[in-house]
Amino acid sequence: MSQSLATVAYLGAAILFILSLSGLSNPETSRRGNLFGMIGMALAVLATVFGPSVSTSGIAWIVIALVVGGGIGLYAAKVVKMTQMPELVALMHSLVGLAACIVGFASYIDPTMKYEGAEKIIHEVEIYVGILIGAVTFSGSLIAFGKLAGRIGGKPLLLPARHWLNLIALLVVIWFGREFLAAPDVNAGMLPLIVMTVIALLFGIHMVMAIGGADMPVVVSMLNSYSGWAAAATGFMLSNDLLIVTGALVGSSGAILSYIMCTAMNRNFISVIAGGFGSGSGTPAKKSDAAEPQGEVVPVSAAETSEMLRDAKSVIIVPGYGMAVAQAQHTVYEITKTLREKGVDVRFAIHPVAGRMPGHMNVLLAEAKVPYDIVMEMDEINEDFPDTDVAIVIGANDIVNPSAAEDPTSPIAGMPVLEVWKAKTSIVMKRSMASGYAGVDNPLFYKENNRMLFGDAKKMLDEVLVALKG
Ligand code: TAP
Repeated sequence: MSQSLATVAYLGAAILFILSLSGLSNPETSRRGNLFGMIGMALAVLATVFGPSVSTSGIAWIVIALVVGGGIGLYAAKVVKMTQMPELVALMHSLVGLAACIVGFASYIDPTMKYEGAEKIIHEVEIYVGILIGAVTFSGSLIAFGKLAGRIGGKPLLLPARHWLNLIALLVVIWFGREFLAAPDVNAGMLPLIVMTVIALLFGIHMVMAIGGADMPVVVSMLNSYSGWAAAATGFMLSNDLLIVTGALVGSSGAILSYIMCTAMNRNFISVIAGGFGSGSGTPAKKSDAAEPQGEVVPVSAAETSEMLRDAKSVIIVPGYGMAVAQAQHTVYEITKTLREKGVDVRFAIHPVAGRMPGHMNVLLAEAKVPYDIVMEMDEINEDFPDTDVAIVIGANDIVNPSAAEDPTSPIAGMPVLEVWKAKTSIVMKRSMASGYAGVDNPLFYKENNRMLFGDAKKMLDEVLVALKG
C-alpha cells in the first residue's frame, strides 16, 4: 500500500473514531457508534499492517500477534460478567501502558532510528515522556484492578509526607531526564531511562494505593485518560499520526468523563488524584458493618408491592447495582410493559454512577429493550418525585441515600442523589439491611413512607409480575 493510500485510510479511520465517540454519547446511537469504532479500527490496523512502515517479512509476526491477542480479548469479553467490567477495563488500560513502555525502549535501542541534532532531542523527549506515562498507567491500572477485584484492600494507603515523596520523585525524574538527553550513546542513556521507569512504576502504585475504594470509578476513568495519552506518546515515538489522534481522543474523552463522574459524586478532581478520599471498602459492607438502625423498617410482600404498583398513576423505577447482580432487567421490563398496558405512567431514573461502571444501567435496560424515551437522567427526573405515586428502587442504595443531602457529616455528603423519599411511597428491593458500595447506612429504609421488599431482585420481581398478571 502506498504512503498516500495509507494516509487516506488513516484519515477515514480518524473520522470514524470521532463519529464513534459522538455516537456513544447517546444510548439511541451507541450501537452505531460502536460499529463506526470497529470499522475504524479494522481500517487502521489494515492500513498499518499493509502500509509502507511494515516490511513483508514482519507481517507473519503481526498476524500471529493479532490472532493470539484477539483470541485472548475475545475469550475475556465472553467470560467476563457485566459486574466485573471495571476490572477488565482496568486490566486493559494496564496493557496500553505496558505497550507504551515496550515501544519506548524498543525505539530507543532501534539501530535504524537515526536522528541528529534537534530531531534526536525531540525523539528522545518523546521516548522519555512516553515511557513515563506508560509506566504510571501500567502499575496504577494493575493496582486499580487489584482494588476493584477485592484482592487489595480499598482503604487508602496514606504514607507520611506522601506529597513530599511525590515531589521528590518528580524532581528525580526531571534530573534523570536531563542525564538521559545528555547521554552520548544508547548504553549511557539506558541507566537514567531504567531509573525513571522504576520511579514511574512506584509512583503509579503509590498514586492509586492512596485513593479509597469509593473513588475507584473516577480512578478507572482517569487511568482510561492516561492510557489515551500513553497511546498518543507511542504515536509520537513511531511517527504514527493516527495513533496520536486516537490517543488524544481517548485521553481527552477520559478526562471529561472523570470530571463528569467527580461532579456526580461531589468530589473535587484534584482531591481524588491527591488521594486519601473515599475510605470505603470498595465492596458492599456486610450486614454487621451497617450503622445502628434509626427506627423501624416496614417490610412488604411481592403481592402488596404489585397492588401498590397497580393502584399507582405514576411510577419511577430506580435501578442500581443489585439489578445487575440479579440480572433482573428483563423482568423489570415485563413489569413495565404490564403496568403501561394498564395505563400507569412508568419511567426510569438513572444516576450517573449507578452500578459499577458509567452507563451500566443504560446498557442493561437497552439489552432488555426498554424504550429510550422512558429512561431519564437524574437531572431530568429528580424534580418529579413529589408528583410520583410509587418510586421503586431495585438493588440501589448509595444513589438514593438521603444522608447525602441531609447529613453534612456523612461520607457521601453533597453527592447528588435520586430523591425517591419525596415520592408518595418508596419501595426498596434488596436482600438485607446491608449498606451499599460506600459502606454508609441508609436512612431511607426507616422513612415513614418507605417499604422494604426483601429478597433477590429477580426472584421478587418475578413474584410481583405473576401477581400483577394474576
Ligand atoms: P450500591 O450502593 O452498591 O447498592 C447496591 C445494593 O444492591 C446493595 O445495598 C445490595 O444490598 C443490593 N443487592 C446486591 N445484590 C442484590 C440482589 N441480587 N438482589 C437485590 N439487591 C441486591 O449500588 P448503587 O446504588 O447502584 O450505587 C453505586 C455505588 O457504586 C456508588 O457508591 C458508586 O460511587 C459506586 N461505583 C460506581 C461505579 C460507576 S462508574 N457506576 C463504579 C464503581 C463504584 P443487599 O446486599 O442487602 O442485597
